[in-house]
Amino acid sequence: MDLGIKGKVALVSGGARSLGKQDCLTLAAEGCKIIVLDLNGEGAEDTAKEITAAGGTARGYAADITDRAALAEALKRAESEVGPVDICVNNAGWIYTMGQLKDMKDEDWDQNLAINLTGTYNVTNAGPPQSWADIARRVFELSGRDPVDVRPVSTDEYDAGRSSAPRPRSSVLSLDKLAATGFESQPAGDALVAYLAD
Ligand SMILES: NC(=O)c1ccc[n+]([C@@H]2O[C@H](COP(=O)([O-])OP(=O)(O)OC[C@H]3O[C@@H](n4cnc5c(N)ncnc54)[C@H](O)[C@@H]3O)[C@@H](O)[C@H]2O)c1
Repeated sequence: MDLGIKGKVALVSGGARSLGKQDCLTLAAEGCKIIVLDLNGEGAEDTAKEITAAGGTARGYAADITDRAALAEALKRAESEVGPVDICVNNAGWIYTMGQLKDMKDEDWDQNLAINLTGTYNVTNAGPPQSWADIARRVFELSGRDPVDVRPVSTDEYDAGRSSAPRPRSSVLSLDKLAATGFESQPAGDALVAYLAD
């Protein structure tokens, strides 16, 4: 597949194994330069080595996405060594699998929120809430395709006839606290336009 993203720098969090690793390999096969970020630094480097051994460009970095200072430091180093990030795959996550809420320990709850919410928030752009279909339509529009060709599929439609894990109906994050510090995240829509104009 040629997605037209050759030469772009892609950051994949949780790229040491499983889905994140596959994201890294897939994006590398598209010609992207990969920043593999993971709590497991050794695993991140192994993924990067696999890519470079196949002729691609990648580097692995150890960082905990819930630790803003360590994350900022790792991203700074990664961007100076690989290049400014064009594509961000917020893959790192953790699913609490120990059973019911009544069995959950406080530290399990805290860790769930820290990794899956705060961690994702830490590496995400700002802007108005958008569904995947909104983004896909905009990409089509900016690329000269008819946005009508994008067919939104609701979670209910997608799940019809199969069983899958419950998904949130809305995944919008408030950046108010971040903005209150004086830091302004780049609007995601602007980033998309700039990216497609490259
Ligand atoms: N596998 C599934 O069926 C499934 C289903 C729904 C959603 N997901 C989501 O997809 C993503 C990947 O799933 P997976 O099965 O490949 O998970 P996995 O547990 O196999 O891999 C997750 C990777 O993220 C890294 N990671 C975890 N916490 C981190 C942190 N704080 N900072 C940096 N890196 C961290 C881990 O070290 C690991 O390499 C997760 O967000 C998961 O919740 C997976």
